[in-house]
Amino acid sequence: MIDEALRVFKELDSKDFRILTGIETGMKHFEWVPMEELNKYTRMPFEKLEYRLKKLVRNKLVVRNTQPYEGFQIYFEGYDALALNAFVKRKSISAIGDEVGVGKESVIYEAILPPELAIGEPVPVVIKFHREGRTSFKQIKRVREHLGEREHFSWIYAARLAAQREYNIMTILYPRVSIPKPFDHNRHAIVMELAKGSLLSKTKLIDPGWYLDEILKQAKITYSLGVIHADLSEYNIFVSEDGVQLIDWPQYITPEHPHADEILERDVSNVLTHFFRKYGIKRELDETIREIKSEVGKSLEGKKESAESGDGGTVEKLDFEEAPEEEDFEEDIIQEEDFEAEKFEAEIFEAEEFEAEEIETEDLKKQDFEKTVSKKETSDK
Ligand SMILES: Nc1ncnc2c1ncn2[C@@H]1O[C@H](COP(=O)(O)OP(=O)(O)OP(=O)(O)O)[C@@H](O)[C@H]1O
Ligand SMILES: [Mg+2]
Repeated sequence: MIDEALRVFKELDSKDFRILTGIETGMKHFEWVPMEELNKYTRMPFEKLEYRLKKLVRNKLVVRNTQPYEGFQIYFEGYDALALNAFVKRKSISAIGDEVGVGKESVIYEAILPPELAIGEPVPVVIKFHREGRTSFKQIKRVREHLGEREHFSWIYAARLAAQREYNIMTILYPRVSIPKPFDHNRHAIVMELAKGSLLSKTKLIDPGWYLDEILKQAKITYSLGVIHADLSEYNIFVSEDGVQLIDWPQYITPEHPHADEILERDVSNVLTHFFRKYGIKRELDETIREIKSEVGKSLEGKKESAESGDGGTVEKLDFEEAPEEEDFEEDIIQEEDFEAEKFEAEIFEAEEFEAEEIETEDLKKQDFEKTVSKKETSDK
C-alpha cells in the first residue's frame, strides 16, 4: 500500500527518483525495462544501479523480472513516490499525514499546503492517488485497445488519464460549483482542498430539507455549466455547517452524452432516495429534474432574446475541452534529455467508458457511527 511509499519516501534521494523516472519512461517501450536502458538514462555505473535497484525492489517500489530477460517495472507505490516528489518540489505540499479515505478507485491522504509567501495559515489538503488501472476492468479493457503491445503500461495510463480528467473538470467547475478547490496535479495524483464536514452517508442531519435543497442547487449549477456528475450519491457529498461539497468527478459526462438523461436521473434519484429513506422527505423525481434543467432552457431563451435585443445576456454554459485529445507523457518527467522522447499517442477517452459503476450497497460503506450536523444558524444560503 501507499504507506510503504510514504515510509520509504524520506529515504529516497534524487538518484533513486532518477531511477524510478527511468523505469517509468522506459515502460513506454519495454515491458521490463533492461539495465542497459537505466544505465543510459541515469548515467550511473552498473554496480551503483544494482545496489539502488535492490533497495527499490526491497521497498516494493519496483519489481524485478528475470525471465525471459532481466528488467524492471514500477509499482503503483513507486509511482506514488514520483508524484509525491513532484508535489514537494513544486511546494504544493509540505507534509503528508494519514490516509483519510479509500475509494474503489483511489486512496486519499491528508496533507498540508504551505501558506503563500509564508504568510497566512497552512491549508489542509488531500492528495487523491488514482488507482483505476488496478480496479476497473472496463477502463483497462478500453485502454488496452489503445495501447496494443504496451499492455503492461495500461494501469499507469488509466490512472493517469482519470486524474487528469478529474483535475481538468474540477478547475472548470471551481468555484461556481461547491467542490474542494483543486490545487495541483501530477501523473495519477491530485492535490485538492480537504472537504469540510463529513460524508452525507455518515451524517445525521438536523435540517435535512435545507441540505437537500443545497445539493439540488449544486446539481443545477453543474448542469447549467454543461456537466453531469454521473456518480452522485450520499458517498460523494460532504456536508458541514457551511453547506455541501460534491467530490469524485472523473466519470463526469456532458449533456451531449447519449445516455445523459438516464445518468442525470440516476444521480438525482440516488440523492432523493437517500433523503426519503433516511429522513422521510418526499420529492418528485420528474419535477426535480425539470427544475435542474430549467436554468439551461432559460439561459438559452435569454441568449435568444438578448441576441435579438443586442445585449450580451448572461451566458452560463462554459465552453471547454471535454477530454485531453492527446497526452504528453513527458510533461512531468524531469531531466528527460537522454531518453529518446517518443510522444505517446492518446486517444480521446470516450465518455461512456467513464460511466459510473453501480453504487455499492449502503451496508458495505456504512460506518457504525454517524456525525450530527446542522446548518449554521447565521447562514442564509
Ligand atoms: N477532498 C476531500 N476531502 C476529504 N475527504 C475526501 C476528499 N476526497 C475524497 N475524500 C475521501 O476519500 C473517499 C474516496 O474518494 P473519492 O470518492 O473521490 O474516490 P473514488 O475512489 O472515486 O471513490 P468511489 O469509491 O466512490 O469510486 C471519499 O469517500 C472520502 O471519504
Ligand atoms: Mg467516491
